[in-house]
Amino acid sequence: MVSTHGAEVLVASNRGPVSYEVREDGSLHAKRGGGGLVSGLSAIGPDAGAVWVCAALGDADREAVRRFEGGRRLPSEATGGQQVRMLDIDAEVFADAYNGIANSVLWFVHHMLYQTPLEPVFDAEFRRQWRSYEAYNRAFAQALAEEAAEGAAVLVQDYHLTLVPGMLRDFRPDLRIGHFSHTPWAPADYFRMLPDDIAGQVLRGMLGADRLGFLTQRWADAFAGCCEALVGGLGGTRVGVHGLGADADFLRERSHRSDVFERMAALREEIGAGPDGGPRRTIVRVDRTELSKNIVRGLLAYRRLLEDFPQWRERVVHVAFAYPSRQDLAVYREYTAEVRRLAEEINERYGTPGWTPVVLHVKDDFARSLAAYRIADVALVNPIRDGMNLVAKEVPVVSDAGCALVLSREAGAYEELGDDSIVINPYDVVATARALHEALSMPGPERAERAKRLADAATALPPTQWFLDQLSALRPDVTD
Ligand code: G6P
Repeated sequence: MVSTHGAEVLVASNRGPVSYEVREDGSLHAKRGGGGLVSGLSAIGPDAGAVWVCAALGDADREAVRRFEGGRRLPSEATGGQQVRMLDIDAEVFADAYNGIANSVLWFVHHMLYQTPLEPVFDAEFRRQWRSYEAYNRAFAQALAEEAAEGAAVLVQDYHLTLVPGMLRDFRPDLRIGHFSHTPWAPADYFRMLPDDIAGQVLRGMLGADRLGFLTQRWADAFAGCCEALVGGLGGTRVGVHGLGADADFLRERSHRSDVFERMAALREEIGAGPDGGPRRTIVRVDRTELSKNIVRGLLAYRRLLEDFPQWRERVVHVAFAYPSRQDLAVYREYTAEVRRLAEEINERYGTPGWTPVVLHVKDDFARSLAAYRIADVALVNPIRDGMNLVAKEVPVVSDAGCALVLSREAGAYEELGDDSIVINPYDVVATARALHEALSMPGPERAERAKRLADAATALPPTQWFLDQLSALRPDVTD
């Protein structure tokens, strides 16, 4: 099965660097995927010569694969130059694996999102979906086995693909296999909610890799704890920590283009001036509308701020961008609706003719996110659990005057940014309101100094280096 023209470096992830939409005239339009994984990996760019294996995520992607794929890879003019092999996995198998197992089970386990009196219930339907997850992982392992040159390095990404390292090892013992988790890892007591055989399969699948990477020591330790409790330890698999940082050069350049200036002007218009005629303060948040991001408690904390510190009424605006995510899942749709409802309620309760307390946008717009970063006085990053959280790292780099960061201690970014942030327990909305008040009250020079230190820490490991470090750690002569 070894390909003579195979690639020396391969990346595998569910979501790839591009995804397509069909325009009204029938033409296909490529767009960049969202989320931390794609943001991090895209920096590698086409130059590294890596082949990226990913899944077709919907009908437009499937259409692209069928339309473009004479050979096995998409033509580079359709991918922005990156070499991409997009897998056209049966739509039902994909839905079971992605919505059913990856996003409704593994994501929930690692972010500890279950409402445990009623869930999870691992029934026959779960077993059926699990078989699809196995088939989907096998499709990736097979494609990687076909694409890889003798002795190539393969970097497998995230919880969608936990079984790939073990399967690929069976197909191609010659390969050097790494796996990287972009999420937290659950502590053993929570992880073992999974049926024993499934928990064992996930861990053994991962341990098929030569080396596993995590975003923080906390997640690496949790994984080691699960292996200790359930499969007798890590075996020969090495574990390393790579705290993916923000891409300073890209962000600074991108945030000074004209489309960002235009959006800054539009946002300033929406925010308006305070009673003294000066610009209002802004509390900015930018997230996928994701259960773990804790957007609802963020709004509750903002409401509390307006109650407990009424001096901010008319003087502050909460700019909240909550971009749609995983809308196939009912619980995400309900969460999205709750975010909207609460924002409206706050605006009705406190708003005045010249002041809208919450400016909520739900249409994904990267240029507008950068515009909000630039004008932010305070950034609110309050996840209940998060592998890293790149927004926390991006805002201090981009903000013009230096913004204060209110940061959850449950975000991976806390390990690197905790010292210069105002740190919160994400469940405590009273304390979060107080933290917002403290951040808004911070004197300008202190804010600027802190933001400078935050930006330095946030960019210590740029994505390209993050990727190259993992690649070199996979070399046979390197030990951790
Ligand atoms: C997280 C995951 C990524 C995922 C991203 C967006 O960052 O770690 O693997 O791509 O969320 O989620 P989505 O389901 O839209 O790919």
